[in-house]
Amino acid sequence: MLVGGTIRVPGDKSLSHRALLFAAMARGTSHIGGMLTSLDARSSARVLRQLGAVITPLGDGKVVTVRGRGRLRRPSAVLNCGNSGTTTRLILGLLAAHPFRATLTGDRSLRRRPMRRVTVPLALMGARIVERNAGGTLPLDIQGGKLTALRHEMPVSSAQIKGCLLLAGVAGAVPVSVREPHGRSRDHTERMLRAFGYRVEEQGEWVHMQPTGIVTPFDMQIPGDPSSSAFPVAAAILAEGGELRVTGVCVNPTRVGYLKVLERMGAPVEVDGVELQFDEPVADLVAAPARLRATEVRPEEIPALIDEIPMLAALATRASGTTVFRDVGELRVKESDRLALIAANIRAVGGRASVDGDDLHVTGGRTPPAGRVVTQGDHRIAMAFAVLGTVPGAKIRVDDMACAAVSFPGFPAMLQAIRA
Ligand code: S3P
Repeated sequence: MLVGGTIRVPGDKSLSHRALLFAAMARGTSHIGGMLTSLDARSSARVLRQLGAVITPLGDGKVVTVRGRGRLRRPSAVLNCGNSGTTTRLILGLLAAHPFRATLTGDRSLRRRPMRRVTVPLALMGARIVERNAGGTLPLDIQGGKLTALRHEMPVSSAQIKGCLLLAGVAGAVPVSVREPHGRSRDHTERMLRAFGYRVEEQGEWVHMQPTGIVTPFDMQIPGDPSSSAFPVAAAILAEGGELRVTGVCVNPTRVGYLKVLERMGAPVEVDGVELQFDEPVADLVAAPARLRATEVRPEEIPALIDEIPMLAALATRASGTTVFRDVGELRVKESDRLALIAANIRAVGGRASVDGDDLHVTGGRTPPAGRVVTQGDHRIAMAFAVLGTVPGAKIRVDDMACAAVSFPGFPAMLQAIRA
């Protein structure tokens, strides 16, 4: 296909969750423009409403108004976080500092995801967690209260764990220090906290937060989601001609590790006109067709491109040579077992991929991909293989495209709109 034009992608998912959360914590009215309207963002809004925040309906192009009460209110029903790990883990951090009991659950995918990575340190801070099943997964009960300071070495680099613990420190007004072992995960929580006057410092692998600030109402514009932008960018790289511009994308360095990998693969993406908006760098991305070659993605690069691995792996099926993603075991506990599912689906469409320990190997070829992709409801698997399906001569059927709405409402229309 030929690509062309200028598009926008939906608002950033990580920032949308955090904006809703901080607005709910503030006493007064905040206004959030550019808010993501996807199912995951709706999960955060729904749960925060149950906890007492007044939030106007999430609708495309609408500024969302949030009236927070300063503190959360005891919910009268179970908090259903849907498919959203970020909602669950960040809200658990807030609930840890509130003196009432709440029960959290989620869909089938979320109920298999590990929660002890947050509940164990929250319990060390003083929260009481009641696990309803042996694995410590959802559903679970949390009884919050007065918290003590925390110094914690995280088992994996994860912005969800880090964000959860920092928010517990903020809501409980106690210092929190966390160590990220394998590279810096996305730092949106830290940036927002600094804007509210919290002292947040990075020292080597540690992040230290002192509760010196106060969360006050704010007005904010959410930039485009770099993870969502990876899909049209990849479609442009796979195209036979043309050029595509994606405007207003968050290019925070902890989010756009995939651009460095694309450059090594022979597909440089231009980052045009960087501006700082609400403490986040925002720019246009300009992508064009390229001949791809394999690369090695190193362990310390993974946190800054964790959500882009499905798309990068799909691109690697079109590169000359074997691409290796090192140390990507964390993919096993995403919305699906992404490590197994990426490899299985690449093979299902005629490509070559294998898992060796925690490494993913993908060997490229020239034959058009054809076959049926099983998503297990994982939005990023669905979108990555739908983009691979734009290769000339490809015949890919994705078993569930509706799940794209978890992060990217309007994804199928976008894929049509970029055709020149
Ligand atoms: C997110 C963090 C990432 C990412 C998820 C969103 C966040 O998870 O996969 O889609 O907003 O904090 P981990 O940091 O736990 O890997």
